[in-house]
Amino acid sequence: MSQSFSNIRVCVFDAYGTLLDVHSAAAQHSAALGELEQPVSEMWRSKQLQYTWLRSLMGAYDDFWQVTGESLDYALASHGVVNPELRENLMNAYLTLGCFQEVPGVLKTLKENGLKTAILSNGSPNMLLPVVENSGFSDHMDICLSVDEVGIFKPTAQVYQMPCDHFNVKPEEIAFLSSNCWDAIGGAHFGYQVAWCNRYNQQLDRLPAKPRAEIKDLTELLPLLGIS
Ligand code: LAC
Repeated sequence: MSQSFSNIRVCVFDAYGTLLDVHSAAAQHSAALGELEQPVSEMWRSKQLQYTWLRSLMGAYDDFWQVTGESLDYALASHGVVNPELRENLMNAYLTLGCFQEVPGVLKTLKENGLKTAILSNGSPNMLLPVVENSGFSDHMDICLSVDEVGIFKPTAQVYQMPCDHFNVKPEEIAFLSSNCWDAIGGAHFGYQVAWCNRYNQQLDRLPAKPRAEIKDLTELLPLLGIS
C-alpha cells in the first residue's frame, strides 16, 4: 500500500502512541497494578479517545488532562480499583511518558535534511511541554501545536488546518505521521500525505480515506521522503 511522498516541506507528528508510548504510564506502576496493568492501560487509552470524539460532537470541549483523568477514573472503577494515590501516580506518569526509541534519531535526520517538524496533538500544552522537554528530541522539533488553541479534538479539520497556518504551507506539502489509524485517515481526508505508523499490527480502519503509506516504525518515513 506504500507510495513515496513528494514535495514535502513539513513533517507533522501525532504525539500519543506515535512519538510517546502511552502504555509506559501504567508500566511505571506495574507493581501496584499487577495483572491489571494491561487491561487498565488499554481501557484507559480507549476511553480517553472515545471521550475526545464524544466531547467534540457534544460541543463540550475540556482539555486533554481533564479527559485523561476522567477516562482513567472509568478504567480504574471498571476494574474495581479504589486507590487515590495510584490514580495520582498514573496521572503524573503521563507527564513523564517515554518516547519510542527511534524518535530522536529520525527527527534529527529530518532537520538535517532541511525539513520543518511539528507535533500536532490533542494533548494540552501543560501535558505536552514537560514530556517534550525531557524527551531528548526537543531540539529537533520546531513547534508543538495543541488542539487547545482551537477548542476541539481530532479528527476535526480545524485541527489539521493548524500546521498549514503556522508554516504557511498547503495540506499536500505536509507529511503526517500517526500510529492512530483514525487520526492517519483524518489527516489523509484533510489532504496531507500520510504514513500510518502501524506499531501494533492493527487492521486498517474502514473510513472514507486511506493513508498513502503504512510503516512499522518512524525510521521507515525516511525512505518515503527520499532520505537514505
Ligand atoms: C494525540 C492523540 C490522538 O496525540 O494520540 O493527538
